[in-house]
Amino acid sequence: MSPDSTQPRRIFLIGFMGAGKTSVGKVLAQRLAWNFFDLDEVIEQREQKTVAQIFEQCGERVFREIESHALTELLLRSKDGSVIALGGGAFAQPVNRETMKQAGGVTVLLTAPLDELERRCRAAEGTRPLARDGDRFRELFAARRNAYALAQFHVETLNKEVAEVADEIERIPEIELITASS
Ligand code: S3P
Repeated sequence: MSPDSTQPRRIFLIGFMGAGKTSVGKVLAQRLAWNFFDLDEVIEQREQKTVAQIFEQCGERVFREIESHALTELLLRSKDGSVIALGGGAFAQPVNRETMKQAGGVTVLLTAPLDELERRCRAAEGTRPLARDGDRFRELFAARRNAYALAQFHVETLNKEVAEVADEIERIPEIELITASS
């Protein structure tokens, strides 16, 4: 039995749009031979619509409801040993933070300066409804700061390769504890 066998083997990747949650999460999960889940992808499969279509057809409020349901379901069915990349707004919702707390897991915030996040999101223009308006993007960045600060660990991603960020996450002692157990 591992010294920390009560802690679920689950890593949540949190951060603003463009922080690299999906790219880093895939690499990390592959290295650990864990499952990888991207909450936005789970939502798209569940709803048979893209995130952009849900925003356009139903609005953000409905998207947030779907997101919370999808997170709850995912945490019930996700197997031991999972890396979960959340959409940028998910951790900003208190109800989701509570769901995550109940389920357990280590929360890791990926950070980058605002101008870098804007640059990365411009490269994938069109897929993120909340990145289309620069003012709204900047407002959200400021508004989510306090919620994001609640993540247990913060990892800066600026000027780092995806693999380097994954290395840093693997070396966090709490992560070493849950990844060493089997
Ligand atoms: C959102 C971020 C997106 C997606 C949706 C809303 C947000 O995910 O969930 O467009 O509110 O920040 P990414 O952070 O993966 O882009």
